Amino acid sequence: MWISFHSYKGGTGKTNISGNLACYLVSKGFKVGLIDTDVSGPGIHALFSLKLKKTLVDFLQGKAGLDEIVYRHSNEELYIIPSDATEEDISSFSKDPSQAKEKLQSLLREFQSRYNLDHIIFDCSPGLNRSSLLVMSMSEMGIVVSTLDKQDIRGTYVISGVARRLKSKPRILFNKLPKNKYEASKETLEDLSRKIGLEPIGVILYDDAMADAWSRKILIQEYPNSQYSKQIAQLWDRITHSAGSP
Ligand SMILES: Nc1ncnc2c1ncn2[C@@H]1O[C@H](COP(=O)(O)OP(=O)(O)OP(=O)(O)O)[C@@H](O)[C@H]1O
Ligand SMILES: [Mg+2]
Repeated sequence: MWISFHSYKGGTGKTNISGNLACYLVSKGFKVGLIDTDVSGPGIHALFSLKLKKTLVDFLQGKAGLDEIVYRHSNEELYIIPSDATEEDISSFSKDPSQAKEKLQSLLREFQSRYNLDHIIFDCSPGLNRSSLLVMSMSEMGIVVSTLDKQDIRGTYVISGVARRLKSKPRILFNKLPKNKYEASKETLEDLSRKIGLEPIGVILYDDAMADAWSRKILIQEYPNSQYSKQIAQLWDRITHSAGSP
């Protein structure tokens, strides 16, 4: 399955969720591709401590082939395509949007077949931008990550409207929920998801270990029994259940 993570505002937790979900799936025996399409503010290379040489940006500029931009993580079945920071949007490396989609799609098909991948996870850039919407239109499961911050909620509502026009049906995942408010806010969350117009795909509570890690640790590897890690496992269950529904 191709699964992409989006958000309106930055910092909602996409990079850490993408990285942890990828590692979780590898621990379950899947072969996984993880791709950082956030070329304006990439983060996957930092989370996985990659020493960057060539990246997705070089590929899109025609300066590198697929094998040069794929980094295998710790000899595991996890294959990462990182990004380097650039001022451009990924769609601007091509003459027109349809060409950009074509180029990315053929990269992904080659990535999937050459590395025999079961799943590909996309960490997208925040905001309502072309590259994030392009990836959303290609993935089978788009997930918008939001906190309960009013700015996030309003922005998520905007993304929902645009996604509907593009005939995408992203799900909504609430992250960084205060633990003590979760039980009381369950109904509010359902209500909120309905108003925003996105099917809920779960919640991840605010987690001190995650906050303290500052993206220097992959929690699911360092603390597989932590609350955050368990919620990543639950997220995967919800994704597989939700994937079949219209
Ligand atoms: N559930 C959580 N509890 C506490 N802190 C969290 C949680 N999820 C993420 N964080 C923290 O929030 C910060 C931002 O996370 P992350 O980089 O994954 O977000 P992002 O959506 O990828 O940001 P950007 O949009 O800037 O790329 C990190 O410091 C991370 O540790
Ligand atoms: Mg990020």
